Amino acid sequence: MVNNGIVVALDIGSTCVRAVICERDDDGILKIMGVGSRPSSGLRKGVVVNIEATLRAVAAAIEDAEMMSGLEAHDCWMGIGGNHINGLNSRGVVGVSGKKRDSREREIGQDDIDRVIEAAKAVVIPTDKQILEVIPQNFKVDDQKGIRNPLDMIGVRLESEVHIITCTVTGAQNLIKCVNRAGFRVNELILQTLAAGRSVLTQEEMDLGVLLVDLGGGTTDALVYVDGTPYSTYTIPAGGSQVTSDISIIKSISLENAEKIKINAGCCWDDLLEDDEVVIVPGVGGRAPMTIPRSLILTIIKPRMEEIFKMIKQHIESLNLPRFLGGGVVLTGGGAQLSGVLELATDMLRLPARLGSPMPVPELGGLVDEYRNPSYATVIGLALEGDRRSNQDISQNTTDLRKREKQNTALIDKLRTWLKEEFL
Ligand SMILES: Nc1ncnc2c1ncn2[C@@H]1O[C@H](COP(=O)(O)OP(=O)(O)OP(=O)(O)O)[C@@H](O)[C@H]1O
Ligand SMILES: [Mg+2]
Repeated sequence: MVNNGIVVALDIGSTCVRAVICERDDDGILKIMGVGSRPSSGLRKGVVVNIEATLRAVAAAIEDAEMMSGLEAHDCWMGIGGNHINGLNSRGVVGVSGKKRDSREREIGQDDIDRVIEAAKAVVIPTDKQILEVIPQNFKVDDQKGIRNPLDMIGVRLESEVHIITCTVTGAQNLIKCVNRAGFRVNELILQTLAAGRSVLTQEEMDLGVLLVDLGGGTTDALVYVDGTPYSTYTIPAGGSQVTSDISIIKSISLENAEKIKINAGCCWDDLLEDDEVVIVPGVGGRAPMTIPRSLILTIIKPRMEEIFKMIKQHIESLNLPRFLGGGVVLTGGGAQLSGVLELATDMLRLPARLGSPMPVPELGGLVDEYRNPSYATVIGLALEGDRRSNQDISQNTTDLRKREKQNTALIDKLRTWLKEEFL
């Protein structure tokens, strides 16, 4: 997949569709050139329920990014997440083929690594599911454990541990269909939390073990890293939209007003409230405006957020992790901006919490303040990860070509020798 220096990322969320167009400059820096963002109404909990509405939002968001960048989008790296995603850990074992050398020492080649990852993929996946990602966690060569990259090591038996992420076939197909019908190709689907992790987590956090929580509109998605690689994927079918809807129902106000209240005056940690703080809410159907104490809004929001963190805590406890998550918890997604959410997460999960916004890194340009916001974590991470994968594909293609060239040269040499021996 040659990207011609242009990388397009698309994050179709339950509340918002975001597109980013990046271009690689002469210094090799991937620069954000255009961004588009449109409200999304065609998804429920990460699953497409209205193709027409989704494709319109996709087309409009990409068009906005095209206008801003002056570049044209053709294909994109698209995020996938939500309730239909599952993660599992698996192992594979192979004998080292030792193709690389004729001696008795068996040197592990790329073919052996590919085979052992393939072997770990041999798990029973329901027919309505497909494999989205297979992420190698570590390798074992004979009795030596915890190897990150076994290439060129000597050994007889090669073992791999991988994290497999699956999604429903229809969930993936419907997302791709929306993008195709909007006039764009999809290079690859990438797990949204994996992308968000790429833009907000440091390598040190991943190595120490970290919990990434994407507080979205329709769902809350969690990804646990242990020893530098993904270990567990988990989704809770509740997010910021439920909080808004709770306020709307309990206070009998429109969803639009409830959303405004949540964003401007919402809070889920008591100590952050001052005494006697109130919010004025416009009345519905010509009724007089209401004055609501902020403490009352807190009593609506906090239980829902507590419920979300309680489910995450139960999931983490059920994992029996090999060690403590030294990197703490990183909250990202639009909902991470809710006042008091870091304090609540720290208290409930017993882990230090921080806000996860896209971080400035040397390989990324154009990350102005507006995009250093947790709502942009996934789409910017998709651009970074998409760029990495397309470069990997290019270098893989070059390696394959070189391999084939080498094989052809060897064959011609053999033929030449044979002709010489037979006829000269
Ligand atoms: N300042 C804020 N305070 C509280 N909540 C906020 C704030 N800004 C955005 N949100 C909430 O964040 C949610 C949207 O987050 P985000 O854009 O990450 O979701 P999404 O990607 O569209 O959804 P999903 O990932 O679930 O498919 C909404 O519920 C919105 O109300
Ligand atoms: Mg999202």
